[in-house]
Amino acid sequence: MKTSVCIIGGGPSGLMLSQLLHLKGIDNIVLERQSREYVLSRIRAGVLEHGFAALMREAQCGERMDREGEIHEGFLIAHDGRLDRVDLHKYSGGSSVVVYGQTELTRDLYEARDRMKGVVIHNAEDVQPHDLASATPYVTYRDGDEIVRIDCEFVIGADGFHGVSRKSIPKGVLREYEKVYPFGWLGVLSRTKPVSPELIYARHERGFALCSMRSQVLSRYYIQVPLTDKVEDWSDDAFWAELKRRLPAEVAARLITGPSIEKSIAPLRSFVAEPMRYGNLFLAGDAAHIVPPTGARGLNSAASDIYYLYHALLAHYERGDGSGLENYSAKALARVWKAQRFSWWMTTMLHTFPESIDYDKKLQETELAYLFSSERALGSLAENYVGLPF
Ligand code: APR
Ligand code: PHB
Repeated sequence: MKTSVCIIGGGPSGLMLSQLLHLKGIDNIVLERQSREYVLSRIRAGVLEHGFAALMREAQCGERMDREGEIHEGFLIAHDGRLDRVDLHKYSGGSSVVVYGQTELTRDLYEARDRMKGVVIHNAEDVQPHDLASATPYVTYRDGDEIVRIDCEFVIGADGFHGVSRKSIPKGVLREYEKVYPFGWLGVLSRTKPVSPELIYARHERGFALCSMRSQVLSRYYIQVPLTDKVEDWSDDAFWAELKRRLPAEVAARLITGPSIEKSIAPLRSFVAEPMRYGNLFLAGDAAHIVPPTGARGLNSAASDIYYLYHALLAHYERGDGSGLENYSAKALARVWKAQRFSWWMTTMLHTFPESIDYDKKLQETELAYLFSSERALGSLAENYVGLPF
């Protein structure tokens, strides 16, 4: 097979880029290791910054998001016996976020690819990029007993943290930065009305908790747990009891509980790989960087990569201008690191650290006290949470 852009990975990053390129007549193929059912069964985060929402609309995939997604103009932080509100709209100069599940968003992107007869190959085994440093790279994959070869001009590594793309960059070229947190988030999805119309992030001495949602009938809750905990250790009852302990009494009293329809533990990790380009391979999204979920930056960091890559490829194909591709890595990384900083800051401020001394706890309290006493501090939080400009 032959195409202009071969995209490895059919998650939100790969599908979004495929859709945007297709709309401009740039030929591309998406190779996804899993079945579509599998991809759409993964429960992921649910807060979209306005820039990501705009990209969905540009990709002609924003209709259901605009109909079913909820605009949130603020969120709450429970701490030290208080429940304070961050007015995102006020402090970001009129911006907001959209609460819309990543699983739904991925479904919309797949439907758009189908509608336009985009080529998305599922169950592609042993995907392998080749000759990336040359002008004629190609990608192979296995379909049963057959090895299929795709010749292309550019390879996009949008295959997530465990993908093959980043691993194809020679060791001497790639530099990886990683910070692993000593805890995870135990998440529960339940068909219940959310406890609050806005998200509640809770700092508590027993550990962090988060009340989120997918819709007015579907709630998503999380509690911080040690890495040694297993999902099997947590019955639904134990989860709800622990969540209630970490929430302000009046919130806990109105929490509606129900059977979990999904329950999983995700370890918290920060990771960046530099550079994001090697020859004609370009990394995007989770393939190049991971954030802990505390600042809701994961998908949103992927969005700016896709935006920069899309415009760089467009400039190359429409005007023969390669400067966007030349500058892609530096430009993408500058924003990626700001999302890293913000996620680290939110995580550090709100979690209980096993090694922390009384001095650290005092600083956490002071960080929150300062935040809610300073319009400038709230402005900085809001600006980052709704998404820094691309
Ligand atoms: N070959 C082909 N596809 C692969 C391979 C491979 N070797 N390895 C992984 N994949 C696929 C995965 O099955 C997955 O569907 O690549 C896709 C990558 O998707 P995501 O992990 O969702 O990454 P991305 O599209 O960058 O989306 C970023 O996802 O993990 C969240 O917090 C993250 O919200 C952010 C978003
Ligand atoms: C979620 O709804 O899954 C969610 C929301 C906000 C976060 C992290 C996760 O910061």
